[in-house]
Amino acid sequence: MKKLENKNVFITGASAGIGKACAYAFANEGSNIIMCARRKEKLEKIADNIKNDFNVDVDYYILDVTDQKAVEEKVYELSKKYSNIDFLINNAGLAKGLNKFPDDKIDDWEDMIDTNIKGLLYVTKAVLPIMIKNNAGHIINLGSIAGHEAYPKGAVYCATKFAVDAITKSLRMDILENNIKVTSIDPGMVETEFSEIRFYGDKERAKQVYKGLKPLTAEDIAETIIFCATRPEHVNINELVIMPKSQANAFISYRKND
Ligand SMILES: NC(=O)c1ccc[n+]([C@@H]2O[C@H](COP(=O)([O-])OP(=O)(O)OC[C@H]3O[C@@H](n4cnc5c(N)ncnc54)[C@H](OP(=O)(O)O)[C@@H]3O)[C@@H](O)[C@H]2O)c1
Repeated sequence: MKKLENKNVFITGASAGIGKACAYAFANEGSNIIMCARRKEKLEKIADNIKNDFNVDVDYYILDVTDQKAVEEKVYELSKKYSNIDFLINNAGLAKGLNKFPDDKIDDWEDMIDTNIKGLLYVTKAVLPIMIKNNAGHIINLGSIAGHEAYPKGAVYCATKFAVDAITKSLRMDILENNIKVTSIDPGMVETEFSEIRFYGDKERAKQVYKGLKPLTAEDIAETIIFCATRPEHVNINELVIMPKSQANAFISYRKND
């Protein structure tokens, strides 16, 4: 029997990118998938594909993680079907804008803080009682190299990922006695919808981010998350930093056309 068979995995932001790749990767391991995001048609399609290809349960919820009341309600709803959440993948997140601080838009700051910090907190707070009751669980947070080293034009995005790092570390201490693992996955460049969202739908500008190098794929990250999720019971990966071979840090990348 596979280690993740029959496990219940709740993934936030599963309609695209890393969250979507995680949904397929865990389903491939035999896990039941509970997904949420704001775009219904994307979730619907992923759920249909998973149902067709894998013999697992799939549920999805249209949920904006910044809406605390809605988070509470949906988690209550799913708790009626799933007596435990074995894994919570706190993945929903975004960057908006890449400007020098004086040119940043306050609305973008609100979006990033509300989603990356407050959304992650709301979901974790709602799911934790289920894990604590079962004395088991694993929370995997999507941090970033932006949470290790601040870069220019990224004050607020970096701040949100520094916050994820702090929450991950503090939470791990607070729930040590509850037999719950807490891991942070901190990627460098991953080609997803991330840059398109950051540049307000400008696909050409988004493409430039990855020009001349081979970025990570969402599947690379999902595979790494599966690795963390399948360590022996007594082992926890606290944090895992992963980058494309040609990226040294947030500042230095080697590009073929440089
Ligand atoms: N790509 C990178 O280079 C990179 C590097 C380091 C860390 N990360 C982190 O990895 C995570 C996933 O990013 P990605 O690269 O996979 O980006 P992506 O392709 O843009 O996917 C982001 C996902 O988050 C969901 N989402 C955004 N706001 C939400 C909200 N308020 N409520 C619910 N879901 C929401 C989106 O779905 P809907 O729009 O349908 O709601 C989407 O499914 C993020 O936390 C990001 O900060 C990414």
